[in-house]
Amino acid sequence: NKVLVLHGPNLNLLGTRQPEIYGHETLDDINNSLYEKAALNGWDIKALQSNHEGGLIDAIHAAREDGTAAIIINPAAYTHTSVAILDALNAFDGKVIEVHLSNVHKRESFRHHSYVSLRADGVIAGLGSQGYLAALDALIKSAAKA
Ligand code: DQA
Repeated sequence: NKVLVLHGPNLNLLGTRQPEIYGHETLDDINNSLYEKAALNGWDIKALQSNHEGGLIDAIHAAREDGTAAIIINPAAYTHTSVAILDALNAFDGKVIEVHLSNVHKRESFRHHSYVSLRADGVIAGLGSQGYLAALDALIKSAAKA
């Protein structure tokens, strides 16, 4: 089973970016723990970060063609602005799980609305890097039941 993990803008700065909100782990730390969990379960993960809306959209389009079963996405600030990412996800047939490191509902009101949530099968917010692992765990367990 193949999973695409997509990280949106500014998440390349994790570790040094507002660590009081986003934690001290780097994006590599997060991706490595995902790769490890996937490998233990015989799953295949591809992780990608882009600061560009179009880069994320291109990756979602590629996922339609290459047998990707699910997308775990933290669209970062595009969560709150991007109809284009929502449209791309609507054209993808697999599962979609939206992850946010911080609890967006506890923050500024402009972070309370998510376009991506209109498509997501599940949403995890506020669990820090654990949220990504919880998303992967849910995908693995639901595939095992199917
Ligand atoms: C974020 C929350 C967004 O509001 C913010 O723009 C981000 C990160 C999170 O993971 O908590 O860049 O998606």
